[in-house]
Parts: sequence; C-alpha cells; structure tokens
Amino acid sequence: MFNERTEVHTPLDSVFHWDYDVKLPQIDRLYENAKRDQWNASTTLNWEQPIEREVLDMSQMPMFQTELYRSLSADKKEALACKFAAWRLSQFLHGEQGALMVCGQLVDAVPDLDSKMCAAAQVMDEARHVEVFRRYITKLDKIYPIDPTLDRLLRAIMESERWEPKYVGMQIVAEGLAIAAFRFMQRESKDALLKELLEYVLKDESRHVGFGVLALRDAVRRLPGKEKKELEDFAFTACDMMVTKIVDGQPKDGFLSGNSVFEEVGISASDIEDELKRNPQWAAAEQDMERKFNSFLFVDTIVPNLKHLDLLNERTEPWYRELGVLDMYAG
Ligand SMILES: [Fe+2]
Ligand SMILES: [Fe+2]
Repeated sequence: MFNERTEVHTPLDSVFHWDYDVKLPQIDRLYENAKRDQWNASTTLNWEQPIEREVLDMSQMPMFQTELYRSLSADKKEALACKFAAWRLSQFLHGEQGALMVCGQLVDAVPDLDSKMCAAAQVMDEARHVEVFRRYITKLDKIYPIDPTLDRLLRAIMESERWEPKYVGMQIVAEGLAIAAFRFMQRESKDALLKELLEYVLKDESRHVGFGVLALRDAVRRLPGKEKKELEDFAFTACDMMVTKIVDGQPKDGFLSGNSVFEEVGISASDIEDELKRNPQWAAAEQDMERKFNSFLFVDTIVPNLKHLDLLNERTEPWYRELGVLDMYAG
C-alpha cells in the first residue's frame, strides 16, 4: 500500500540575484513562450468523453503470444491492458511530481534571474501535468506506487547539492525519457483523450528540455575539470539506472515493478517469462524489442543533448556503448 508521504533531505543554497537586466535573452524568450503557451487542463480537454477500455494496443509484444496470456478470458485481457496503462501512467505521474519539486528547487538555486523566472513558469507546467495524469488515471483504473528505479533517480536528483546535476538529471535525462515514453504511448494508444492529453504535455516538455540545454550549455563550459567529470558521471549514472540489465540471471534496474500487474489478473510474470524462454524465437523477439525500445528512449533526445553538452564525450562514450543506448534500430 501507499506511504502517504516520504521526506527527502535536500541541502541547497538559495541565491538572490539583484541585477534585474535581462542577461540571457534566449532564456527570456523561452519564458515568454511559456506564458504564451499556458493551457487550462480543465477546459482544454473534454473529460466527459468515455475512455476506450483497451487503452494500449499490446498485441505486438511477444509475451502476449504465450499460451498463458491466450488462456485469459476477454474480460481479463481487457483488464490487463487497462492496468498496464494505469501502471505506466502512474510512473509518469510520479515523475511529474518529481519535476514539480526539482523545478521548485531550481527557482531557488540557479544563480541568474532569467533562469529563475523560466523555471517558475515550468513549475506551473509541471503542476498541470500532475493534474492531468492524476485525473486520467483515476478515470481509468487506480494509481500504482512509484517504481523503485524511478524513486532512486528522483532522490538522486533532489539530493544533489549543486544545481547543474539537477538540470542534467531532470531536464535532460528524466524529461528526455518522458518525451520518448509519451510519444511511444501516444503511438500505441487507441484512446482519443489520452492521445490529446499527451500532445499538450509533450509541447510543454519539449520547451523544458530546450530550457535545460540552454541553461546548461555555458554552465558546463565554465565548470572546472573535477566538477565537469562529476557531472559526466552523474549523467551516465542516471541513464544507467533506466536500463534493465541481467545480472547473475536476474533482471536489475529499469522499470520492473510493472510485472505485479500480471498477478492482479491471476497469472504470474515469471510463468510468462518461463514460457517465453522455452520458445527461443519468442525470447529472441522479446530481447530484440527491449533493445529497440531502449534505443528509441535514448537516441532521439537524450543522446544528442548529452553530446551537445559534452557530457557524452570521448571519456564516457564507451560506457553508453556498453549500455546499448547508442545503436540505432530501424522500426
Ligand atoms: Fe512535465
Ligand atoms: Fe517537464
């Protein structure tokens, strides 16, 4: 069951900035865009429209070819699709709450006023994202607890003392990942309200990533060698957490708590895995899909931005290569 609250200790210096001239015109422009693009989730979206019960089309996933899955009644299959969507959307929701809080920290900690104001506009965006996901999930099914990997990432970002790793962790890695995951869900979904909601959220998120890159570009250049290396390490650790690896035959990291959803309809994730393993063709197809999904999550947004910021560079590139997030896969 849910803990109603958790506390995270965040050692952070708040900085006043007494020069009120615009110093960073590009960030000031993003602040203007943020004001222009505000939308009210209560009136922009039609919350009265019924939700398509089979929110996600999961027929392409190898596990849905198994006997175990096929033995489920139509009702249970529908329930499974619905619960899977609710689990995934719950992770988006918790991520949005994390973004809301980290961005609040940025308002305090970033040294220049233009970035403080841009971050303040983003705080409002993130509050709206919490609102839309909470509303949608409650309509669909129920809110699932935060996945341990996401919990670890959000804590690492919140607990860092400097503002640069907060930008890297939240604006570059977490939001880059969110953009890819939102796009993926939008493509998979059959539900009109969800598609529309994600479209609006995506517009805000692209602005946030743009803000992160702009704010970090000069800051990273100015960092002394040791701090720069620490930031490179932090960026990789954040990416590394997101990818599931098999260690001693057991899956580690990544978002694994979604497996609990199977139990809710009376089948077990490990039985499904066993059945997949018995059929090498399915097992290979599943691995292939996971590799494609990982590269899809990273190659569009995160990798180019990390390269642009010189956080993915000659020193760190081999780590990313080994993690398998640099390869492009078709389809
Ligand atoms: Fe957001
Ligand atoms: Fe965001």
